[in-house]
Formats: sequence, C-alpha cells, structure tokens
Amino acid sequence: MKFTLYAAQTVNGNIAGSGDRPISNKALWKSYYSIAKRFKAIVVGSRTYDIMLEHGTFGKIGRPFVVVCSRHRTAKSSGNVSFVRSVDEAADMLRRRGFGSALIGGGGGLNASFMRAGLVDELILDIDSSAFGEGTNLFSGTAFNARLSLIGVKKFSDEAVQLRYSVDSVRA
Ligand SMILES: NC(=O)c1ccc[n+]([C@@H]2O[C@H](COP(=O)([O-])OP(=O)(O)OC[C@H]3O[C@@H](n4cnc5c(N)ncnc54)[C@H](OP(=O)(O)O)[C@@H]3O)[C@@H](O)[C@H]2O)c1
Repeated sequence: MKFTLYAAQTVNGNIAGSGDRPISNKALWKSYYSIAKRFKAIVVGSRTYDIMLEHGTFGKIGRPFVVVCSRHRTAKSSGNVSFVRSVDEAADMLRRRGFGSALIGGGGGLNASFMRAGLVDELILDIDSSAFGEGTNLFSGTAFNARLSLIGVKKFSDEAVQLRYSVDSVRA
C-alpha cells in the first residue's frame, strides 16, 4: 500500500497561519483538487476533517473514502467516513478494504504521526511564495528524523513551486 502525503505550505513550512488561516493561492488549491481526485481514499486528522466538512471540500475532491484519525472522538463510522484511533489502524483498515494507495491530507499533527510510523512513501509539497510568522507546521507535535530524496520539481509561476520527495528512511 502506498501513502502519499500532500501539503500546500509557505516557504517556512507552515500549512496554515494562526487561527487556521489558509494559504491563499488559487494555483495551489487547483493543484490540491487535481492531486486529491487521483486518490479513492484520504486520511485526515480530526481538526482537518472538521475544517474540510465545514468548507465542503470532500465534494470538491470527488467524495473519497475518508479515514479520520482521533484518539478522543467517539463518533461512529458510517457511509464513506471511518473513525480510527491510530495511524496503524488507519493503514490496516485501508489495506483490509483493498485500497492500494491513499492520500495523507493533513494537518500537521497527523502528518507527523504518519511520518514517525514510517508509513509515508512520497511527499508532494506545493510551496507558496509567502511566509507566516505563526501557525501550524507541516509536521507538528511528534518527533522523528527523516531522510528524503528529491524526485521532482515543477515551477507553477513566480508564486509557487512543487517539490516531490520519496522517503528513504525515518528514525522515530
Ligand atoms: N495547507 C495544507 O495542505 C493543509 C492540509 C491539511 C490541513 N491544513 C491545516 O492544518 C490545520 C490543522 O492541523 P493540526 O495539526 O492542527 O490538526 P490535524 O492534524 O488535522 O488534527 C489533529 C488531531 O488529529 C488526531 N490525531 C493526530 N495524530 C493522531 C494519531 N497518531 N492517532 C490518532 N489521532 C491522531 C488527534 O485528534 P483528537 O484530538 O480528536 O484525538 C489530533 O488532535 C488547519 O489549519 C488546516 O486547515 C492545511
């Protein structure tokens, strides 16, 4: 099973500003919709799930099967939304259901948990030409040390570049 982590970020690695302020770049939103539509399953942290629900984002990315990671929520899984307690449980469930690949869709807390567990195969990072002094980092709250290989670079415009990495090794 292949896991691809996608994020749109500022040059200093923030995926959101303070108060969940999103990165405002139409080209990056278009890139996100187009990449996310390639996946039939997406894994998100509980905070990102709430924000995506509020903004109707799942409809814009083709209504994938959604796995929500939460240690605390007691919400019942139903339809195409499943709640799990850990990233390992998320991976097991997707394998059992026959998915060959899935998108890891953030946010920073979930991304870090997936990296530390050694489950991420590829990263696609769309980098906006902006910086936030505060906010949520691409990886938050969980320690790990990873080595990556740069496998692709695409310039959108003077305002954005896309970097693709494969993950060589992760030490927890
Ligand atoms: N720019 C982008 O590409 C992008 C993409 C996605 C999100 N975002 C932004 O990122 C921000 C949200 O990021 P965030 O780091 O605050 O929150 P998050 O990662 O979306 O959610 C954090 C929550 O996920 C659950 N979780 C995380 N790791 C877990 C694990 N190992 N096992 C079980 N549950 C786990 C926990 O839920 P419980 O507390 O319920 O237990 C945790 O509190 C928002 O501003 C969002 O808009 C940006």
